Amino acid sequence: MARKFFVGGNFKMNGTAQSITDIIANLNTATLDPTTETVIAPPALYLLLARSLADPKIALASQNVFDKPNGAFTGELSVDQLKDAKIEWTLVGHSERRVILKENDEFVARKTKAALDGGIGAILCIGESLEEREGGKTLDVVTRQLNAVAEQLSPAEWAKVVIAYEPIWAIGTGKVATTEQAQEVHATIRKWLGEKVSAAAAENTRIIYGGSVTEKNCRELAKQPDVDGFLVGGASLKPAFVEIINARL
Ligand code: 13P
Repeated sequence: MARKFFVGGNFKMNGTAQSITDIIANLNTATLDPTTETVIAPPALYLLLARSLADPKIALASQNVFDKPNGAFTGELSVDQLKDAKIEWTLVGHSERRVILKENDEFVARKTKAALDGGIGAILCIGESLEEREGGKTLDVVTRQLNAVAEQLSPAEWAKVVIAYEPIWAIGTGKVATTEQAQEVHATIRKWLGEKVSAAAAENTRIIYGGSVTEKNCRELAKQPDVDGFLVGGASLKPAFVEIINARL
């Protein structure tokens, strides 16, 4: 079974009701490659608006979710609430949350498990800092981040996980990983899936790249055998996001 190409737009803490309405209007009228699974992640405040506006072929993702079912957790969102709002995916472990909000590997793993238990897919973000890359620790870091998740999930549960490799030094910097750098890490992640999870997970799990993806660099990256799509930040706010969704046309 071929892996379906997956392109996510992470709007981060950007946008207004008007600008998000405009972005979605553009996506609704554009011709999108039907073989790409397209997902957008606006700020939580706008998820319901976005779901009501977006064509059904575009899925919605939350940028975050909490690991507890419901209750006294001020400021958090539960998996049940996302389900109720017809949000099919959530990001977990974005580096901006790991670094700024101090989310550790174990917490990210618990959120991943909670999402899957509640019937929401998880876009699991992993990636190394510049210091870790320069220290030759990239593969150790991504493996450590993945091992924490593997402790919480059964092999079958990986079917609802998309792994987003996002080197921190490439996020929002305009400094995209080279095709070789991306392919090397993606191939290592796939090998890890085969060894730690199952042959089926290695074959079927989408591993997408994030970090300064634009309409200019997406086509070369998309040709790499282990690059199954993208998680796009800044460029997902622009009309050129359509070109990234259509990177293989
Ligand atoms: P940029 O595309 O803006 O570098 O952001 C990538 C990212 O963090 C997506 O989650």
